[in-house]
Amino acid sequence: MFPFDVSSLLARRAAQSDEGAIVRMSQRARDLRAKGQDIASLTIGEPDFDTPLHIQAAATEAMRKGLTHYSPVAGIADLRQALAKKLKDENGLDYAASEIVIANGAKQAIANAVLALIEPGDEVILLSPYWVSYEITVRLASGIPVVVKAGVEENFKAPPARIAAALTERTKLLILNSPNNPTGAVWTKAELETLAQVVVSHPRLMVLSDEIYEYILFDGKMTSFASLPGMRERAITVNGFSKSFAMTGWRLGYSAGPAPLAVAMARLQSGITAGANSFVQHAALTALSSPRDDVETMRRRYQARRDIVVSALTAIPGLRLAPIPATFYAFPNVGAFIGRKAGNHVMDSVETLCDWLLEEMGVAIVPGSAFGDPSCIRLSFATGEAELEKALARFAGGLQRLV
Ligand SMILES: Cc1ncc(COP(=O)(O)O)c(C=O)c1O
Repeated sequence: MFPFDVSSLLARRAAQSDEGAIVRMSQRARDLRAKGQDIASLTIGEPDFDTPLHIQAAATEAMRKGLTHYSPVAGIADLRQALAKKLKDENGLDYAASEIVIANGAKQAIANAVLALIEPGDEVILLSPYWVSYEITVRLASGIPVVVKAGVEENFKAPPARIAAALTERTKLLILNSPNNPTGAVWTKAELETLAQVVVSHPRLMVLSDEIYEYILFDGKMTSFASLPGMRERAITVNGFSKSFAMTGWRLGYSAGPAPLAVAMARLQSGITAGANSFVQHAALTALSSPRDDVETMRRRYQARRDIVVSALTAIPGLRLAPIPATFYAFPNVGAFIGRKAGNHVMDSVETLCDWLLEEMGVAIVPGSAFGDPSCIRLSFATGEAELEKALARFAGGLQRLV
């Protein structure tokens, strides 16, 4: 008999597909807690609220009615219709129900779009800081991520001229995420219009606009990229129920895009996972059609926490913070603290700093390198106020100890 080692058989793509630092930091926080340590964690990117009860009740009701069978691959007709109406009324987007594809989470909608568009060697513009899953998906499709950076001093929004300079004849897709994870930045309509001019000047560039944090908005207005003149045929809009309705575990997202792309995405989805959960789609219909009081209550809570975070972080000398008009993330620049010491321990990188804060101060945060910016860290304020205050005090106390 041969010794048999399955690890030697694993495809390379499997090694490059995890969310790295985010998962690692959350896991380390959990492990330390399991050992009895008091850890305040600001790592998690999901609402700490439970799904509103009327949405839960709608799912139960659908199950009782026997709506537990396979659903059509692109989603149930009523939900596609309701989403077409939502996109028209709230976002100024004109899509037929047949151009909407319901997926198992926005994550799958993004993967559907990238896999449907990207051939090996096609270049995809990622605007850094960016959510790591975009890069994973582009690599899975054998595309080439081309990263365009913007720093804290630019409110993390790359000027269109910098984006234009990164385009080549192999560029096929640009991924835009406004409101943004990890920075909370929101592109204004005027900024998006300038971006649209760059897009028009390229013969084959499409834009994937990930709008999943749409309802967690505190200041300013949300503009859907596809609503700008001429952009309907150039864009694919992705959204979902996870963040807005506190439905992360339900796995429901959707896309809206030009018909040929929608058909291709549904075809891909049919080969891999088939249609999304049927009774969850019925619950989502209820989420869309009922009053949004719970959504508004959660939004207000996030806004109050945003204010707590901003006042705590702006009181730390040396830390730089851009405005946070949306989402439940803060992405302060801690570059001034890299290279400082606690005793003999040198903070030689943001990872070392985050490890030290976890072990010495009992606060878990994610290094910005996980999002393409090694001078920042991400704090999630989808966390109860008491835990949040405790974590912020530990974070500030830790930075103060560094000399
Ligand atoms: C920017 C962004 N897009 C999409 C998702 C995934 O959403 P879903 O739970 O619908 O797959 C996340 C989740 O963290 C996200 O931050």
